[in-house]
Amino acid sequence: MTILNQERLSKALLIPFLTIALLWMNAAMAFADTETASTEKTIFPIPALSEEFKESPLPNVIVIATGGTLAGKAADETSFQNYKAGTYLMDDLIRQLPNKQKIADVTTYQFGNKGSGGYTIADLYDLSLSVDQALEVYDSVVVTTGTDTMEEIAYFLDLTVRSSKPVVITGAMRPWDVIGTDAPANLYNAIKLAGSKKTEYFGTVLMLNDVIHAARDVTKSNSHRMDTFETPMMGALGYIDENNIRIYRSNARALKAGTAEWATPFDLKTISKEDLPMVEIAYNYQAAGGGAIRGFVADGAKGIVTAGTGAGGISSQMSAAREEAIKQGVIFVTTTRTGSGTMYPGSNESIIAGDSLNPQHARIMLLLSLAFTSDKATVKDWFATYGTQDVKVVAPAAQ
Ligand code: SIN
Repeated sequence: MTILNQERLSKALLIPFLTIALLWMNAAMAFADTETASTEKTIFPIPALSEEFKESPLPNVIVIATGGTLAGKAADETSFQNYKAGTYLMDDLIRQLPNKQKIADVTTYQFGNKGSGGYTIADLYDLSLSVDQALEVYDSVVVTTGTDTMEEIAYFLDLTVRSSKPVVITGAMRPWDVIGTDAPANLYNAIKLAGSKKTEYFGTVLMLNDVIHAARDVTKSNSHRMDTFETPMMGALGYIDENNIRIYRSNARALKAGTAEWATPFDLKTISKEDLPMVEIAYNYQAAGGGAIRGFVADGAKGIVTAGTGAGGISSQMSAAREEAIKQGVIFVTTTRTGSGTMYPGSNESIIAGDSLNPQHARIMLLLSLAFTSDKATVKDWFATYGTQDVKVVAPAAQ
């Protein structure tokens, strides 16, 4: 072979080799990009504390707004039900709020502006991280949301926010601009409560209509009334009357203040949104079929909460579908559709008792548990500890 032919041959081999190497490098870089995208944590554009507020003796409260009826614009001044939720911006609402400068230095962050039902679980992941980011700077946070799924959003925050500083969630049953609206009063009292720091270590609390509830236990009980939020069995935590804020009872969580058990294992900074699994609720009723459970499993549900009758009972067809789903690795939690009551562990090892969590709260607890483990025994243990309301008082000497 001549030298010229040898050169031609090596060039001919080199070009495809370089092309393949280039393609491989491109593919590797694209893969690295996706890896970064899924695990990288978003930094939220939370406003910095102003110089004026840094000097002020008042508490620094940030309102993180997501919309709902509180920010709703009514068709006219007497349209209590005909309105567009999530219309006004929180900055404008705070500007209109009288006497706020007497209770706190208020900053706002507009997370979103829509109805509560419009948010995905991935959005709640972002909301929770934004609350924790804000609490690195501010004394306390007020989150405004629609009331429809407020109890679920509140419990998601309760289980995931790492800071022990006060988080108060509020909303309204009447839009901002109708006569007799509850929106400004709820916003004002929520800021007052957050600024008082009286619910530090309580986790997320919900305040509407001057009543303070623990996120884990509260539920929306009426479609229209302004006193819609109730805490069955346990009752409210306390009340706000003008400048008097009274906390009459502690939740089990607050009694864990200062212990390792206060924080749940659900640190969202250690997982990505894609780790949040599909978890559904199957509602039982007279002669309920098994189709809902089979459908959820076919859709990819990793966990299912049953809203059973009475002490958690489900129909024979639903029970047969549950047995099949368990064989496929789906984890079940039993709750009651009655509106209150406690579920205790039974003889079936594959069915976790939801304690006094209502179905929608149990779903949030199961969803977060399955985002962090697929081990059934661990999920069971977390339900028995972080999911259960069981007061344990430890005397200081024994701590
Ligand atoms: C919503 O949940 O966004 C609408 C209803 C409400 O805020 O009361």
